[in-house]
Amino acid sequence: MYELISAEQIRQGVAQLAAAIDDYYRQKPLTLLGVMTGSLVLVADVIRQLEIPLQVGVIQARSYRGAATSPGELAIHDGELPHVRGRHVLLVDDIYDTGRTLAGLYDHLRPLEPASIRSAVLLRKQGRQQVPLEPDYVVFDIPDVFVVGYGLDYRDHYRHLSYVAALDPQDIEQFQE
Ligand code: IMP
Ligand code: MG
Repeated sequence: MYELISAEQIRQGVAQLAAAIDDYYRQKPLTLLGVMTGSLVLVADVIRQLEIPLQVGVIQARSYRGAATSPGELAIHDGELPHVRGRHVLLVDDIYDTGRTLAGLYDHLRPLEPASIRSAVLLRKQGRQQVPLEPDYVVFDIPDVFVVGYGLDYRDHYRHLSYVAALDPQDIEQFQE
């Protein structure tokens, strides 16, 4: 496992993201929706830097994966969702990989008639996109490696790291039953 993005780089990137969100949503009623569980740390950090009024909610999206890196079926749970009709929704996720999670969430939210739906991600993996949708805010572009930390997990391990690390194949094997 090796460090890819340091805690200090993340701190600076998240501050820039918060400034951009503040600018864009100054006159728009914002509901920031964290895509659980990966965006847990990012949401906690970014909302504390926002100066505009906002509602915060969560939505759960899980794409079932066989092997560590292959995307599968998407399951969405929105039991805790606040009312979004007429409000400007910003989805916040940890990483944009194939894009299927965000695309699925847009489709899920559209019938609830928010005023707009946009998205912000901490990371975007290069060369993996399978959908035309692009996130509106990307803090870091990364190569096509499996990453953990700052909310991102491998089988729910490593979410608590304050930096983003890339996993080596032997780190992955360590958890194979
Ligand atoms: P997408 O639907 O393919 O864009 O995948 C998005 C979701 O897959 C993210 O919210 C993550 O939960 C997970 N994911 C994709 N790549 C990684 C990775 O490198 N490390 C950890 N989780 C990942
Ligand atoms: Mg996730």
